[in-house]
Amino acid sequence: MQVKVFNSYESLVKKAFGIVKNIVKRNPYAVLGLATGNTMIGLYKLMIEDCKQNRTSYKHIRTINLDEYKGLSAGDEQSYAYYMRKNLFDKIDISSGNTHIPIGIAENEDAECKRYNKILDSLPRDLQILGIGSNGHIAFNEPNTKFGSETHVAKLTESTITANSRLFKDISEVPEKAFTMGIKNIMQAKQIIVLASGEDKAEAVYNFVKGKVTEKFPASVLQLHPNCIVFVDKTAGCLL
Ligand code: GLP
Repeated sequence: MQVKVFNSYESLVKKAFGIVKNIVKRNPYAVLGLATGNTMIGLYKLMIEDCKQNRTSYKHIRTINLDEYKGLSAGDEQSYAYYMRKNLFDKIDISSGNTHIPIGIAENEDAECKRYNKILDSLPRDLQILGIGSNGHIAFNEPNTKFGSETHVAKLTESTITANSRLFKDISEVPEKAFTMGIKNIMQAKQIIVLASGEDKAEAVYNFVKGKVTEKFPASVLQLHPNCIVFVDKTAGCLL
């Protein structure tokens, strides 16, 4: 696992964007695994700008998102489907049929998980972009999720509900469960880039980069990936 510490968030997302752009230019049919959260916003802004200014095309690119809150429809402003449309898909030339996100309001959980696993199997990802939760979660794989897990419904921990409540009007509105790609699915991507910014991620970054590989700290599994790079800004990397 390669770790690179940047002076600023801007330089970190610029470097990550360079990797995405290279993949998209090399293979206009590439498959990208995408993430949500504040950390990704700067990267998506650069992709949008580049698509507009330099006509980099996403027309045939396929995307698979990590997760979605259970019980939220794609039209709900708090859903990850909405986040993706607002922060990326509606502003680039991607065709919506090529974008995949779990259906938060799917009634049959098992069927939805199977459907998503099938998508993941049929579209091997060239790149998976990942953020990290302060408790070491990746996607919504909370501490003690099995490394062999595939798409499942996760029960969110109190700390994740509290951390994510900043984007909701009230903490009581944060869903308690989510559909998420499993750790095994994440590890199947050919390449992974992890982005982390800010002091509140410093401990998590230290633990997953330097700590022991354990299901107690899901992101630590990334140490076992053959092609994983970690980009952090100096505040997130201050304990390394
Ligand atoms: C959520 C998502 C994760 C993301 C994390 C960090 O919990 N499920 O995939 O990595 O938030 O988000 P942020 O970038 O806002 O800190």
